[in-house]
Amino acid sequence: YVIGVDLGTSAVKILLVNQNGQVAREVSKPYPLIQEKAGYSEQNPEDWVDQTVAGLSDLLKYGDCNPEDIEGLSFSGQMHGLVLLDENNQVLRNAILWNDTRTTSECQEIYAGVGKERLLQITKNPALEGFTLPKILWVKNNEPDVYRKAKTFVLPKDYVRYRLTGKLHTEYSDAAGTLLLDITEKKWSNEICGLLGIDDKFCPPLTESYEEVGTITPQIAKVTGLSTLTRVFAGGADNACGAIGAGILQDGKSMVSIGTSGVFLSYEPDGNKNFAGKVHYFNHSAPDSYYTMGVTLAAGYSLSWFKNVFAKGAGFDELLADVDQVPIGSNGLLFTPYIVGERTPHVDANIRGSFIGMDSSHQLKHFVRAVLEGITFSLNESVEIFREHGKKIDTIVSIGGGAKNETWLQIQADIFNARIVKLSSEQGPGMGAAMLAAYGCGWFATLQECGDQFLKVDKVYDPIEENVEKYKNLFNLYKIIYPATALLNK
Ligand code: XUL
Repeated sequence: YVIGVDLGTSAVKILLVNQNGQVAREVSKPYPLIQEKAGYSEQNPEDWVDQTVAGLSDLLKYGDCNPEDIEGLSFSGQMHGLVLLDENNQVLRNAILWNDTRTTSECQEIYAGVGKERLLQITKNPALEGFTLPKILWVKNNEPDVYRKAKTFVLPKDYVRYRLTGKLHTEYSDAAGTLLLDITEKKWSNEICGLLGIDDKFCPPLTESYEEVGTITPQIAKVTGLSTLTRVFAGGADNACGAIGAGILQDGKSMVSIGTSGVFLSYEPDGNKNFAGKVHYFNHSAPDSYYTMGVTLAAGYSLSWFKNVFAKGAGFDELLADVDQVPIGSNGLLFTPYIVGERTPHVDANIRGSFIGMDSSHQLKHFVRAVLEGITFSLNESVEIFREHGKKIDTIVSIGGGAKNETWLQIQADIFNARIVKLSSEQGPGMGAAMLAAYGCGWFATLQECGDQFLKVDKVYDPIEENVEKYKNLFNLYKIIYPATALLNK
C-alpha cells in the first residue's frame, strides 16, 4: 500500500491505495479558514497537522492492512501559502494562503525592484497577489517583528511533512509557485532575493517530488499507528499532483479541473516556451518536466455561491437536474464567474461577476445552465491562449466536480471544441500523491507506467459540430462583458 495525503484549502483528504491503484480507504478531515478582513485568508498550520494526524489514525483504525505493508506516503498541497518559521522551526504566525489578496502593493514592489521582464525570464510568471513572494514582503513591510524572527519559510504541505518526519524541505513544483525559483535552472534565484533584500539562506533546501526525504518519526508512529518504516516522499503542488492523477504525463496531454477554482493545465516537456506570463508556468512533479495552466478563481465556487444564495438546501444533483432541458446559451442569459476577481486571462482582483441578458421567461434552471456555461467560457479563455501559442488541444481529461454531470461534460466538449475524457479511477491530487509514493517506492519504472496501471477511462464526450458553432458566437459575446463591466470598478 501507499498513502496519498492531499492538504487542501478546506480539508485534508487521505487515501490508502493498493498496488492496483484502488482506493482501499479514504478519510477527510476539515479545518477552518481564518478571514479577519476582506481579502485576508489564513490558516493555522497546527490545524493542518492535527487533522492530518487524526485522519491518519482514522485511516489505520479500520485495519485494512498491516502498518508495515504501507510502504510509502507522499503529499499534495494547496500551493503558494506562506508558512514562516523561526530558528527552531516554530511557526511564527498563521499561514497566509493562495487565495489571500492583501499583497497588491507588494506585487508592485516586486516589479519595481526586479523588473517585469526580468521576473518573467527567471520565474516565467508575473507577480500575482496569490503567490508566496508578495506574502513574504507583506510580512516584512507590515510585521517587522515577526519578519526579524523568521529564519526560513516553507509551503503548506512541506510543514506537515516536516512534522511527520522531522525533515524540512520544499520541492520544485511548489517552489515554482513562490516567484523565487529560477524554474529552468531549478535553483533559488539569488538575483531576486538580492534585489528585494531577502537573505538567500531564507529559502529552504530543494528536492524532487518523488525523492525520499525521511521516514515517520516514532512519536507520529505512536499516535497514528503508522510504522516508522514507512518511507516519506516529498510530494508536490496540488495542480501538479492533480495532473499526475489524471495521467498528464506526456506532451500533448491536457486536463481541466473544476473544483473551487478551475484550472486548465497542459504538460510541457521543457521550461523554454514563451507564454509571456499569460498562463502560469511551473515545474511538474513528474521527472524533468513542466506544466502550464490558466486559472479561473471562482469555478465550482461560483456554482456553490449560486446554490447558497438562490437554491439553499438543494443538492448539486438536484440543482443541475434540469439543465439538459435548457437550450445552448440559456435563452440569452450570460454569466461571468468573476465573483472573487479573475486570474486568467485578466489578472484582475477587482473585477466582479455578472448576469447579462435576463428576461422574464428565465427560470432557475436557465440561471444554473448560464453559470455552468460562464465557468466553462472562462476556462476556454485559457484554452484560447494555449491555442494562440500553437498548442494542439484535441483531448482534455476532465476531473473534479465539473466531471460529475453529463450535461456539463458535453458543454465542456462543445465550448472547448475538444474530446472530453472522464475517468472512473479516483481523481484528484491525493491520487497523484499516492502515485508519487508508488513510483518513489520503485513499484514502477516510470510514473507513466504507474498511470497505465492506476488510471481508467470511464467515458468520452465528443464535440457536436452544431453546438460548437453556437458556442463560438456566444463566446465572442462573453468576451465583451469583461471590458464593459471592468469600467464599473474604475
Ligand atoms: C494555483 C492556485 C490554486 C491552489 C489551490 O496557482 O493558486 O489552484 O493551488 O490549492
